[in-house]
Amino acid sequence: MKTHVLPQLPYELDALAPAMSRETMEYHYGKHHQAYVNNLNNLLPGSGLEDASLEQIIVGAPQGGLLNNAAQVYNHTMFFLSLSPSAKKEPSGPLAEAIKRDFGSTEALRDQIGKAGAALFGSGWVWLARAKGGKLSLVSSPNAGNPLVQSLTPLLNIDVWEHAYYIDYRNRRPDFLTAIWDIVDWAAVEKRF
Ligand SMILES: [Fe+2]
Repeated sequence: MKTHVLPQLPYELDALAPAMSRETMEYHYGKHHQAYVNNLNNLLPGSGLEDASLEQIIVGAPQGGLLNNAAQVYNHTMFFLSLSPSAKKEPSGPLAEAIKRDFGSTEALRDQIGKAGAALFGSGWVWLARAKGGKLSLVSSPNAGNPLVQSLTPLLNIDVWEHAYYIDYRNRRPDFLTAIWDIVDWAAVEKRF
């Protein structure tokens, strides 16, 4: 059986402050993300998906704990690896051109992600995703959702579960969705694109 592990981060836990404090990282990465990894490893034996990749589990597992925990491992790994204390603050090259084509501008895209995140009821994720033909779109997914199940390729995701922002921003989700752009590293998104 494949054993899933918490990914190492290429930055220190206090490196994303003030947008994201060390305490938030200690809970969000150190406890929540770790718990999803542990739950996934506990649920895999006997599932028939012991050696499957996270992507295979997300598109192939029935609704339930295994699917939810695999998706949350994938989602959090993408989220934390999209952040950097030395973030590239604007996309460039082909990604920037695609954003301009499909959203008008990067500023308009950030604005739409902020609005989608604020409007998402309860826990979930806002995604920038790419369709097979190349068109970019935003996806709002509740709970452990992931655009892979819609045959879309995830490029960037923003966590809007309360555990992502409550320590630093309390109930002010929109403030979190503004500050996050200080640490979103467009270089990571360009690589996925
Ligand atoms: Fe989270």
